[in-house]
Amino acid sequence: MAAPSLRKIAYHTLQQGKTLAGLAHKELSTKLMKVFAPEAVTESFPINQDLIKEIRRSIQSLERIDWHEAEEGIYPKSQLFEAPWLEWAKKYPLVWLDMPKTWERRKKKKTREIPRNVNEEDYPNYYLQNFHHQTDGYLSNHSAEIYDIQVEILFNGTADSMRRRVLAPLKRGLKKYLSDESKKVKVLDIATGTGRTLQQIQSALPEIELYGLDLSGAYLKQASKYLSSRNGDLVQLTKGNAEKMPYDSNSFQGLTCVFLFHELPRDARQNVLNECFRLLEPGGTFVLADSIQIEDSPKFTPIMENFHKIFHEPYYRDYIIDDLNLRLEESGFSSITSESHFMTKVWKANKPV
Ligand SMILES: C[S@@+](CC[C@H](N)C(=O)[O-])C[C@H]1O[C@@H](n2cnc3c(N)ncnc32)[C@H](O)[C@@H]1O
Repeated sequence: MAAPSLRKIAYHTLQQGKTLAGLAHKELSTKLMKVFAPEAVTESFPINQDLIKEIRRSIQSLERIDWHEAEEGIYPKSQLFEAPWLEWAKKYPLVWLDMPKTWERRKKKKTREIPRNVNEEDYPNYYLQNFHHQTDGYLSNHSAEIYDIQVEILFNGTADSMRRRVLAPLKRGLKKYLSDESKKVKVLDIATGTGRTLQQIQSALPEIELYGLDLSGAYLKQASKYLSSRNGDLVQLTKGNAEKMPYDSNSFQGLTCVFLFHELPRDARQNVLNECFRLLEPGGTFVLADSIQIEDSPKFTPIMENFHKIFHEPYYRDYIIDDLNLRLEESGFSSITSESHFMTKVWKANKPV
């Protein structure tokens, strides 16, 4: 067997470092919460040794596929190390400073503390909440600045590896368009947040025209700052509701959507799928990534149950039992497939020609 390259060792070391940092952060913050805000502590299902082993196995398998797909050229290997590290290091203290406010919200079960300057009529009611007890919900620069670090901590450093799982199915779906140089291929990332998936798509498919949509102006500003600090064509970012998107029918060859669906009520989920079907050109591909679900990952049930017990995730419990294959079919999609990678399930669906 050939010795692993230095780059591979560096990648695994980085991932292990991020996992340890995530675990250490959670351990310490839970200890502090128990001391300073014991009423904020929520009872949760115990995670036994067998489950811990299963989590480790699942993370290792995610790392293997992440490395393998980079080797195959689905995306450049540099992607495996991509993050605004300096920016994150500067913002990390803010995560700690924000914590007492989060505890207070958990303690008082306050879930609708939205900044006063927000015009509530501009947003659907389900959006005006402190998802995962986030200060200001998705509606401030402060929230947008610390979001990426919080997600990396939540997933023990695997968030970007999980997001990258949309790239292979997206590239396969776009292959037939990419050979036709007379027409620009257009891809939209729905609920793009701070733009991490957009950046990944841009590095895997530099020749395409990229669009991003989100309901949060603050998150889009963060995405714009991040994307414009890098090489690559301009990405067109638009503020809008994924249930009613401001684009023409049949105008995209590819669509992606990462970590949105568990934060939507059922009817909104269906509305977004119907919109995705409308926006795609016949033959186009939609790649959806979100939390794993009970049906195909029963061994991780305690983790899924804890997620909505510990964090404010009002639609998660319904999401993990929602039959999204059926919903995709109801919207008109065909050739639907799905696969799970650690905590993320990825669906691929096509609009029939
Ligand atoms: C959990 S974050 C995921 C962000 C990003 N895709 C990622 O991978 O980190 C959910 C995002 O969905 C956005 N969002 C929620 N409801 C939305 C809606 N109805 N229309 C558009 N964006 C929405 C939020 O503003 C937020 O940026």
